[in-house]
Amino acid sequence: MYYIGIDLGTSAVKLLLMEGNGRIEKIVSREYPLSFPNPGWSEQNPEDWMKAVVDGVKELTSGIDRSQVAGIGAGGQMHGLVILDQEDRVLRPAILWNDGRTQEETDWLNNEIGTEKLSAYTGNIAFAGFTAPKILWVKKHEPEIFAKIARVMLPKDYVNYCLTGVNCTDYSDAAGMLLLDVKKKAWSKEMLDICGIREEQMPKLFESYEAVGTLKPEMAKLLELPETTVVVAGAGDNAAAAVGTGTVGDGACNISLGTSGTIFVSCKNFPEKTNPAIHAFAHADGGFHLMGCMLSAASCNKWWMEEIAKTSDFAGEQAAICEDKLGKNHVFYLPYLMGERAPHNDAFARSCFIGMTMDSTRADMTQAVLEGVAFGIRDSLEAIRAMGISVDKSMICGGGAKSPLWKKIFANVLNIELTVPETEQGPGYGGAILAAVACGEYPSVREADEKLVKVCDTVLPNPELAALYENRYQVYKKLYPALKGVFREL
Ligand code: XUL
Repeated sequence: MYYIGIDLGTSAVKLLLMEGNGRIEKIVSREYPLSFPNPGWSEQNPEDWMKAVVDGVKELTSGIDRSQVAGIGAGGQMHGLVILDQEDRVLRPAILWNDGRTQEETDWLNNEIGTEKLSAYTGNIAFAGFTAPKILWVKKHEPEIFAKIARVMLPKDYVNYCLTGVNCTDYSDAAGMLLLDVKKKAWSKEMLDICGIREEQMPKLFESYEAVGTLKPEMAKLLELPETTVVVAGAGDNAAAAVGTGTVGDGACNISLGTSGTIFVSCKNFPEKTNPAIHAFAHADGGFHLMGCMLSAASCNKWWMEEIAKTSDFAGEQAAICEDKLGKNHVFYLPYLMGERAPHNDAFARSCFIGMTMDSTRADMTQAVLEGVAFGIRDSLEAIRAMGISVDKSMICGGGAKSPLWKKIFANVLNIELTVPETEQGPGYGGAILAAVACGEYPSVREADEKLVKVCDTVLPNPELAALYENRYQVYKKLYPALKGVFREL
């Protein structure tokens, strides 16, 4: 049998076709526009996602026996607010995970409702990218739209809704709304009240590996797939990537270097002690996870290469970085192109280069960008360690993890061993695995991962280089606090 994995990303949807034994038969991708209507805002049209999925699935399955497609599973960009009216019309463009317009609502939630109450209701505090502050923003700034809301959903849930007609979500993605009592795995009545939303407007909750339904007849016809094709609840893209890299059970770690950058530690139980800088969410394996999220990771390098250096030769630019400059760069880069989530929770933070001299080169600045992203993940790693959790190795996946130099910088900045999975299609592979579990191909997510996830490379830190990077990190750590006030004035 075949399983389709959907990675509903920020710049494109990537779809993969997996055989029951885990072999990837084909991968296709379709891009869609992303708009920044105001500085720090980030929006996308949900109908564009669906067009891309339909188009992509058709190409993905062309040339195979489509009657053999048993299941579909999606890992989707998290936190995005999708709202539909009574007739299932999309009411406004989706407000995405990296949109920073809600600092006022976020501050109101954290200061007026208070972080203690928010943590008691949901296990988390408010961040500008989360869904609840976005609902409050629409309520205040677009009351006529707010009044028409019949359904509130997340990006991959919109796709699942179009595929099946079932308004559903899974616990890993729902956790990022700040509307779920994560520990109890139930909608928080208090948070729904605070946002002025009723439970019947919210999707039905599922575990990520549970089937939510099958394709609607008109969808099955459009996609030329069997009506019996099972659609699984799926997961937020980070939980799906964790499944795709074998990061399940207790204490496993995964770093994902995509548009965002995340460090994800899986845990069996909801943590006794939380850290406000670090999200405590549900996992797609039925357990929980901790996560630090940077809003701009590989996107910093993409921006620097394409927008500023005007090149698409990323590898060529990185080849100009001398080995003996590693750990000794006096140019620093702060990776806050869209503000920052963890650990600073500051939508006003901005990117900058610091420390250039007359002899600074383009290669030094490229190196500083790669290092700045690694230092940003190190900030989250330290916040996780401050919770008493030890992390001495991690999987690494995502587009940025294709660069050998970047992996080396990460291993030494974090001073941990990094393991590279054979399949780097984290969220898409995870989505397909979840679908295979829902269809009974594997008894559980853990058992599927044990069979399917294979390692192809390990990158070890070098003690001397790690010590040099430790010194650099101690400097980096001082930059955001020194500039925080200036960022507000910008
Ligand atoms: C996680 C987060 C991002 C998006 C990216 O909290 O906001 O990783 O899910 O797609």
